[in-house]
Amino acid sequence: MQVDKNWTPTIVAFCCNWCSYAGADLSGNNRLSYPANVKIIRIPCSCRLNPMFILRAFQRGADGVILCGCHPGDCHYTTGNYYARRRMTLLFSMLDYLGIEKERTRVEWVSAAEGAKFAATMNEFVEAVTALGENKRLEDFRCKQ
Ligand code: FES
Repeated sequence: MQVDKNWTPTIVAFCCNWCSYAGADLSGNNRLSYPANVKIIRIPCSCRLNPMFILRAFQRGADGVILCGCHPGDCHYTTGNYYARRRMTLLFSMLDYLGIEKERTRVEWVSAAEGAKFAATMNEFVEAVTALGENKRLEDFRCKQ
């Protein structure tokens, strides 16, 4: 099998507005680096993430999808991240059933004060997805340009 050394994965990071997005902002303000191929999508709360968004991201060519939210107990809407956690557990078991490597998806709690954790998490996640290679299983080739 031929491996393209210049290939970089496309990563979609859904970040809740109140903690993780602020954590991403802080990591930028502190000049901590994480790969530019991480595309951040700001959502009001982690529970706003419909599992279909993740499937859609994979369909549209994402190689990895990560959800970042407030730490349990710190959600701006009190219990949103508990709902998200349950929902993601179900989705991940479904993805596992479909044969999608579990390293392609991840949930991480990052507070607004954890810029370093945000950067470290993204670096780690990109490295893990890069090791897996391209996501071909769920990708819709009609979406390729
Ligand atoms: Fe951050 Fe709910 S507001 S997880």
